[in-house]
Amino acid sequence: MNRSQSTPTFADACESVLSEPESEHSLYTTLAPLYDRLMADLEEHYDNKFRALAPHVPETAETVLEVGCGVGGLLPLLEARFPHVVGLDRRPELLAFAERRARHAALVEGDVTDCDLDERFDVVVAVEYVTAHLLTDDDLAAAFETVYDRLQPEGVFVFDAVVDPVAVEEPGVDVFTGGGYRLERAVDVVPAPDLPGVRVDTDYRVTDVAGDRQATASERLPVRTFTLVELRDALAAAGFGDVVVEHDAADEGAVLVVARR
Ligand SMILES: C[S@@+](CC[C@H](N)C(=O)[O-])C[C@H]1O[C@@H](n2cnc3c(N)ncnc32)[C@H](O)[C@@H]1O
Repeated sequence: MNRSQSTPTFADACESVLSEPESEHSLYTTLAPLYDRLMADLEEHYDNKFRALAPHVPETAETVLEVGCGVGGLLPLLEARFPHVVGLDRRPELLAFAERRARHAALVEGDVTDCDLDERFDVVVAVEYVTAHLLTDDDLAAAFETVYDRLQPEGVFVFDAVVDPVAVEEPGVDVFTGGGYRLERAVDVVPAPDLPGVRVDTDYRVTDVAGDRQATASERLPVRTFTLVELRDALAAAGFGDVVVEHDAADEGAVLVVARR
């Protein structure tokens, strides 16, 4: 990707809701500046996440692929440990922010369920709800097959997965301001009858402080949760032989899984 690319601002995100309230708005697309702002406060969280991953990485490992790198919260830590880092994400809007955070990582736009990366890596990581977006068994199988295929022999796949729907997100309201705009974000977590998981319902209300315009938008995000049996079966079907599950090394309600090729 082009490192000089400029990223939209919080004001741009607010303006996109005000000017096109009927369009789809999401933290992963038009509201990516808000997503980036939320992630910027999580430095300590990423330090902890990296500390949980690190013991599972072989000392000799030099190359890592981060699947679903988003705006790149983990990338600087991976860059400090690995000489070669690649971040993959299907959302170009998020990769634009990852570009700003990363120093030497290569960033690739692509879907892990259907991607044509031609490199192989010593380590693949996927953290913070990446697996929660693999909504069907076919997607899960395709993602694990891609990872297996892109790992070196003896390579390690480390990822987290949500096992307790109650821990997905705290319902509540937050207010963000900047650039002459005010954005209220109300989050609720509801059952998702067609999923093993939940749906995160977010309502946004944007106000243009100067012009007194106001608009609302909604985002509905399905989040898949897993049983350990599902994860183990899908990993075994993709070819992984040795699987270890840690219960207390990831976020509350999630497990950290280490699978060896
Ligand atoms: C909640 S975000 C986590 C981002 C990042 N791992 C972090 O720690 O901040 C989940 C990310 O997974 C990406 N993602 C979801 N499904 C994907 C897929 N099939 N292929 C590639 N990326 C995917 C999303 O675009 C999003 O950036």
